[in-house]
Formats: sequence, structure tokens, C-alpha cells
Amino acid sequence: MIRTAAMAILLATSFITHASEEAHAKADPAKGKVIAESICVACHGADGNSPVSANPNLAGQGEQYIYKQLKNFKAADGKPAARNNPIMAGMAAPLSDEDMKNVAAWFASQKQKPAAAKDEKQIALGQKIWRQGDFKKGVPACAGCHGPAGAGLPALYPRLSGQFPEYTEAQLKTFRTEERANDPEKMMRMIAAKLSDVEIKAVAEYAAGLR
Ligand code: HEC
Ligand code: HEC
Repeated sequence: MIRTAAMAILLATSFITHASEEAHAKADPAKGKVIAESICVACHGADGNSPVSANPNLAGQGEQYIYKQLKNFKAADGKPAARNNPIMAGMAAPLSDEDMKNVAAWFASQKQKPAAAKDEKQIALGQKIWRQGDFKKGVPACAGCHGPAGAGLPALYPRLSGQFPEYTEAQLKTFRTEERANDPEKMMRMIAAKLSDVEIKAVAEYAAGLR
């Protein structure tokens, strides 16, 4: 009996040590750079500053957020991908878990280029939604989760500042139709469901210009 218990404790300890070693395996941005320069460059730029608005900027985006999205784009264990996008499904498919961590570390460490000029007419409404939300409609302030300056908060909340407004608008609309459904606790689906097209456009424009 005593021998079995001691064995169990020994096994448990070695398992714990092993698990924590894995969790602490450091992502290597230099290895991620090689992937970025050979594959991602065509659409996101090698430094994550994308040339066109359909492809989101990745420079300065949260490391864990990028990693989560890559995992979500990849179908695994016979289940469909949590975030359905045919282009990114093809990109994520050949990446190993380690590749995803490395490329996430690379893009997260890159500097975002300043965003383009803004549509001034949208700013007042966008700022109101960003800072206060809409109490009557039950829309919380975006700043509460994405940060006052839109820089995002690790590990869950992505950066929205400096993102293409067209991309942000498109994502809010896919959350609203639930075509994008990979947000934890339906956080974004519940919010987007309460936003009109006009409000979505305004807040996307405002967020892009935040510093
Ligand atoms: C052929 C073009 C193309 C290539 C190459 C490509 N992507 Fe993408 N990527 C896209 C598009 C388009 C989207 C937006 C998908 C959507 O609308 O949901 C996207 C979205 C993403 C997102 C989600 C960002 C966010 O803010 O949620 C990540 C992360 C990403 N790509 C990483 C990568 C990485 C890493 C590579 C290289 C291994 C790569 N992509 C290669 C086109 C591409
Ligand atoms: C309760 C917290 C919370 C609030 C408030 C919130 N968000 Fe989010 N948002 C999230 C989370 C979490 C994600 C990441 C979902 C995922 O993991 O894919 C996200 C993702 C997003 C994305 C996708 C970004 C990308 O790169 O693809 C957009 C756009 C967005 N939020 C816009 C907004 C706007 C605009 C508001 C205010 C109207 C807002 N959010 C308020 C939690 C929140």
C-alpha cells in the first residue's frame, strides 16, 4: 500500500514538472520571422503591417490573441474550425503548435505603422460608444475590455487601435450574424447584436485612429 502511494506521488510530481516545463517553453520570434517572411508576407507584410484592408494588421497585436486565432482557424480532432475563414484555414493547416507560438511572438513584437487619415464625421459617435457604450441598449464601453487607447489587454482582448476600419467593421458584422463565433462567453456576439450599421462604422473608424 505504502509503496503504491509513494509511486503515485512520484508519478504525479514528475507529471507536474513536465507540464510546467512545457508551459514555460519560450516562443522563439526568430523562428517565427522565417515563417512570416516565407508565408504570411504576401498578405500581412513580413512585419505585420498589411498592404490591404481585407488582411488585418498583425504588428503589435497581442501574442496570445494571435496564437488563439491561429488555433481557431485550424480544424482539429475532426471538429470544424472555431473561426471559419477559407483563406486562413489553408494557412493555419500546416502550422504546428510551436510554429503558431513562434509566429505569434514575431508579429506581437513588431511595430505598427501609424494609421491613415480618419473620417472626421464618424468620430463623435464612435468616441461615445468606445468610452461609454450605450446604456439604454445595454452596450458596454469597448474601452472596458480593449483598453482606453485600444491597445488591447493580454491575454484575451485584441488590439483594435491602428487596425483597418474596414476589417473591424467586417468582424463586428460577422459577430452580429454569428458567422464568427469564437469569442469566449459570446462576449462579442452579444455586443455586436445590439449595434446598428451606423454605430459599427463609427466605432470602427474611431478605434482605427486611437493611439
Ligand atoms: C492569402 C492571404 C493570407 C495569407 C498568406 C495569410 N493570411 Fe492571415 N489573414 C488573411 C485574411 C483575409 C484574414 C482575415 C480573415 C477574416 O476576415 O476573418 C486573416 C486573418 C489572420 C489573423 C486574425 C487576425 C485578427 O485580428 O483576428 C491572424 C492571426 C493571421 N491572419 C495570421 C496569419 C499568419 C501567421 C500567416 C502566415 C503563416 C497568415 N496569416 C497568412 C489572409 C492571409
Ligand atoms: C466584455 C469584454 C468586451 C467588450 C466590452 C468589447 N469586446 Fe470586443 N472582443 C472581446 C474579446 C474577448 C475578443 C476576442 C474574441 C476572440 O478570441 O476571437 C474581442 C474581439 C473584438 C474584435 C475582433 C478583433 C480582430 O482583430 O479580429 C472586434 C472588432 C471587437 N472586439 C470590437 C469591439 C467593439 C467595437 C466594442 C465596443 C462596442 C467591443 N469590442 C467591446 C471582448 C470585448
